[in-house]
Amino acid sequence: MKTAVIYATSHGTTEKVAQKIKLGLGENGIVTFNLKTNKTIDLSPYENIVIGGSIHAGSVQGSVRDFCKKNMVDLLQKRVALYVCAMNEPEYEQELKSAFPEILYNYAVCKKVVGGEFNFEKMNFLEKIIVKKVSGISETVEKIDNAAIEEIVTSLK
Ligand SMILES: Cc1cc2nc3c(=O)[nH]c(=O)nc-3n(C[C@H](O)[C@H](O)[C@H](O)COP(=O)(O)O)c2cc1C
Repeated sequence: MKTAVIYATSHGTTEKVAQKIKLGLGENGIVTFNLKTNKTIDLSPYENIVIGGSIHAGSVQGSVRDFCKKNMVDLLQKRVALYVCAMNEPEYEQELKSAFPEILYNYAVCKKVVGGEFNFEKMNFLEKIIVKKVSGISETVEKIDNAAIEEIVTSLK
């Protein structure tokens, strides 16, 4: 099935997850789109659409929200899976739910928080301060949930 994996990323983790989904689906007919460089995406060739973003200060990127709103009519005629990268486990479910319009969240065949990374090499000064203060973590950590990614892949097969 032709699949588009559409994502926004700040430091590359959501993109890494998009690539893992592509690999899991067997790569053939799977196309990834970064919303930063693809302002308009023609969804007509795809049966499956995966939308991913990451949580910063409690919210997903505006480009993810805008994409969902702008393409809602088309999206509701596809098989849709949703994911977010996030690191604040107690807030996962709330962060996931508030990242997407309610109608799309309820419609999606699969929606997952797939964990994430704190990548100190890619953070700016302010981000390092915020992450240290909020999480107590001061070096790069990876907490990607491969089982959750596998569930997304399975839901689209
Ligand atoms: C400045 C900053 C703020 C963050 N705020 C949150 C947050 O509010 N909740 C959360 O669950 N994760 C938070 N995170 C963790 C990110 O969601 C995580 O680093 C994710 O892997 C980023 O993915 P990306 O590189 O694709 O943007 C934050 C990370 C940074 C650097």
